Amino acid sequence: MSAPQWLIVPAAGRGTRMRAACPKQYLLLDDAAVLACTLSRLHEAFPEAALLLCLDSEDQWFHASMVPFERWQRLDGGDERVNSVRAGIDWLTDHAHSDDWVLVHDVARPCVTVADLHRLMDAIGDDPVGGLLAAPVTDTLKRQDSDQRIDETVPRQGLWRALTPQGFRYGILREAFDRAVSDRFLMTDEASGVERLGHAPLLVTGRSDNLKITHPEDLALVAQILRAQQDTSRLYLSDKEPGHEPI
Ligand code: C5P
Repeated sequence: MSAPQWLIVPAAGRGTRMRAACPKQYLLLDDAAVLACTLSRLHEAFPEAALLLCLDSEDQWFHASMVPFERWQRLDGGDERVNSVRAGIDWLTDHAHSDDWVLVHDVARPCVTVADLHRLMDAIGDDPVGGLLAAPVTDTLKRQDSDQRIDETVPRQGLWRALTPQGFRYGILREAFDRAVSDRFLMTDEASGVERLGHAPLLVTGRSDNLKITHPEDLALVAQILRAQQDTSRLYLSDKEPGHEPI
């Protein structure tokens, strides 16, 4: 199986839409912080990878015990997600080869499964460019007019929601970030920057429960999803145990 050499986790957001007492990455899911849950999933999938964790320079909640990786580095994030990821890309200048794989994953997505992480790397492992987890759009889409009434229904066929992780060769990511600066393009995800170079990143179907915690109501939902995923994996494992063959 292919594995990334590098993981960049932007975690410098202040999460103002959550209206919580601390940034959303430090809210508790059962008894662990969102940040610890997310890093634990990434570590389970890619224990050998090196982690670049981009945090707010004024972060008062982070503690090193939340990081399960052996090789990791704390970096100062920026005032937008793209600037936080850029801190990781810049740090890699002296450390990464241009063919190395870099996976970028939002800290606010703790429900990403190990199976999806492996599926992404298996799908892009031999690709010269890279790709991302994504989910086909399932709702009917409307475009609004200036009065917030429906202007048109947008056909959803062929439309996807871009999730994370997004994984690219380091050299291509570097070029995408440099180009975005020179073009003053605000990259909302890595794929959009890579697309502007003329590449076509691969869409790899990911689970629709890989939610990004954004609004207050998302936290309880994400906690439920994590519990359900654990129950499912226990069921799956018990089916595999010796002595459970049907008679
Ligand atoms: O705010 P939003 O949920 O879209 O942020 C997506 C990810 O980017 C989160 O993991 C968040 O912590 C991170 N982020 C960051 N630096 C910022 C803003 C967001 O690392 N300035």
